Amino acid sequence: MTDRRDEQHLPAAYRGKETAFIKHELLRAYLKRLFLIIGMSAQKLGITELCYVDGFAGPWMDESDDLGSTSIAISLGILDECRQELAKQGRAVRIRALYVEKNGVAFARLESYLRERTPSGIEAKPLEGDFVGLRQTILDWCGSKAFVFFFLDPKGWKPVGVKLLQPLLARPQSEFLITFMYDFVTRFVSKQDLETHMIELLGEVPNVGDLHGLAREKHVLGIYRNNLKQLMPAKARWPARSAYVRVLDREKERAKYHLVYLTSHPHGITVFMEISEALEPVQKLVRASTKQASRIEKTGQGELWTAVNMTDAEEQPVDIVEVERFWLAHLSDQPIKFGEAEFADLLEKTDWLPGDLQRALGNLIGTGKVCNLDAEGKRKSRFLHFEKKNGERLQLTGDE
Ligand SMILES: C[S@@+](CC[C@H](N)C(=O)[O-])C[C@H]1O[C@@H](n2cnc3c(N)ncnc32)[C@H](O)[C@@H]1O
Repeated sequence: MTDRRDEQHLPAAYRGKETAFIKHELLRAYLKRLFLIIGMSAQKLGITELCYVDGFAGPWMDESDDLGSTSIAISLGILDECRQELAKQGRAVRIRALYVEKNGVAFARLESYLRERTPSGIEAKPLEGDFVGLRQTILDWCGSKAFVFFFLDPKGWKPVGVKLLQPLLARPQSEFLITFMYDFVTRFVSKQDLETHMIELLGEVPNVGDLHGLAREKHVLGIYRNNLKQLMPAKARWPARSAYVRVLDREKERAKYHLVYLTSHPHGITVFMEISEALEPVQKLVRASTKQASRIEKTGQGELWTAVNMTDAEEQPVDIVEVERFWLAHLSDQPIKFGEAEFADLLEKTDWLPGDLQRALGNLIGTGKVCNLDAEGKRKSRFLHFEKKNGERLQLTGDE
């Protein structure tokens, strides 16, 4: 991922669609890691092709010829990097991409962009029409031997309701990144309409009772994620899993949308969450910089502090004592093994970031309450090496 922490402003092409920058940084970083990981073991996995499907491709809010701030240009660039890297490693995997767009004007631009700018060695196809109506065509294009990453990023929420996604979710060897517009669903609707919307989006009406604000948002998101997972193929060892990133409104203290990620592999969850964690400072900086720009616009006065100086004021760290309590409740006086699957379970269950879990564990090891039976010597960070072949064993020491 590009390290933009020191930059004071986000790229000019993202002015007015600042949150898309976070989405694109995540897409950029994750797609690359994913296709390199799968590409390196393609032969072992019986996979002959890596496919990328952009279900709501655009171009959207980018009038430039290079479409630099769109998922079209970003994904093609990443696919090209992956193809070159895999070829260098002697892994010749076919890489294809499908871009679906309903709007005629946008489609014409998409078509001409792909015709003129698709990197050599990548097969890219534009497909005009409604994503929902084209689901079977999309699946036929994917075929049965490909690993497919679906990026589903509509403007609203209707085309990504649980039931509508069912045929795609049932496809094996697939991962999904879906924009979940919670804010849109609840806006300007009567109670009865809200129920209809919830059924369309989630597949059921959530019982939100007295839940408000963040608790309600998490509950609704949890139902969406669970119902999507139910429709994915699952084997006992490879249950469907999900994680998400909360993308905040560019100015207001509320979620603009969530990027919901679905996979059948624990490694997917740990990598996705590591990338989300690395994006946290970028997200803070983008928000601080946006707020500052709008203050300057309103007052007409420059400001002494740069956006970089102000990001700390936005910090809302997790309650590390709560994370420590969680670990203590999960451990016992008998050794418990934590490999990648177990660590992914914790990430999925708690929504905490990998660094939070590691930091809290480090505190408990430092104060002698927990012991990592497989750690040789003292560690300063990453107190659990869950990625080791057999994971590592943790145990309560009994010391209060
Ligand atoms: C939010 S924009 C996509 C942005 C793009 N994914 C990106 O990151 O640069 C959504 C796009 O989906 C298109 N769209 C909306 N409904 C659609 C549908 N049912 N099927 C296909 N495309 C649709 C819109 O015309 C618009 O171009």
